[in-house]
Amino acid sequence: MRLADHAAPIVTTVLCALTFAFGVARADDRSVRQLVEARCQNCHGMEGQSSSPNYPKLASQNAEYLRRQLFNFKLGKRQSAEMKAQVADLSAAEVQALAAYFSSKPIIADIAFDPALAEKGREIYLKGNPATGVTACATCHGPQAHGALFLPRLAGQHASYIERQIRAFIDRTRQTPDMVMHSVVTALTDDEIVALGQYLSGIE
Ligand code: HEC
Ligand code: HEC
Repeated sequence: MRLADHAAPIVTTVLCALTFAFGVARADDRSVRQLVEARCQNCHGMEGQSSSPNYPKLASQNAEYLRRQLFNFKLGKRQSAEMKAQVADLSAAEVQALAAYFSSKPIIADIAFDPALAEKGREIYLKGNPATGVTACATCHGPQAHGALFLPRLAGQHASYIERQIRAFIDRTRQTPDMVMHSVVTALTDDEIVALGQYLSGIE
């Protein structure tokens, strides 16, 4: 067998891996507008400001976090039947462009339905709960809950989405490579989870 017979598939694999990793644009990439209009807007809205709490807001979310989550859905590391279908055929450059697009949009906070509960949420967010060993969320997500790089912004997100994700970390239906969130949230009570959602959804 000639060397070239072996080399061709190897070269192709390496090139594909590089394209995947670095988001090199392909000739047949679709524009962000095309993709958002045809897909994302149906659930997340044209500006990433989803009106239904079933769908997270993407506006102002950190681009690197968005990019990672899209790959997590694509690779099945984060389970969501709805999202898997949306990202299956996206190229790395399309993922990158979508992340940059939604990250650049302004976010509008919701109005907390229970200000007293929101105040309790603020306490836990900033100070944690020393009695039960809950770390202050602010240590990672930042004092204003804007996150950084792959740490998600939580400020302005829908309360019920925040609650759902915390519960998904607790029951481990949402996995992350470092599992850092899982140990943080296990000791949270139901009331505390609701309070955190109320606080975070109301700030920008
Ligand atoms: C049919 C509805 C639907 C469509 C269309 C859709 N999504 Fe989603 N998306 C969801 C749902 C539901 C979730 C929450 C999944 C979960 O609970 O883990 C989600 C979550 C996400 C997340 C994770 C956000 C976070 O804060 O972790 C990103 C990023 C995302 N979608 C991007 C997109 C992009 C980009 C498109 C268009 C290519 C798109 N979605 C199209 C339903 C949809
Ligand atoms: C040690 C750092 C750390 C601490 C402390 C922490 N988080 Fe997180 N959190 C993360 C990381 C990292 C992620 C992203 C996980 C991933 O990649 O899926 C995350 C993700 C989340 C998400 C999902 C956001 C989305 O858009 O889907 C929520 C909600 C959340 N954290 C809430 C909290 C709350 C509430 C607290 C405080 C009780 C907290 N976190 C404390 C590191 C932390």
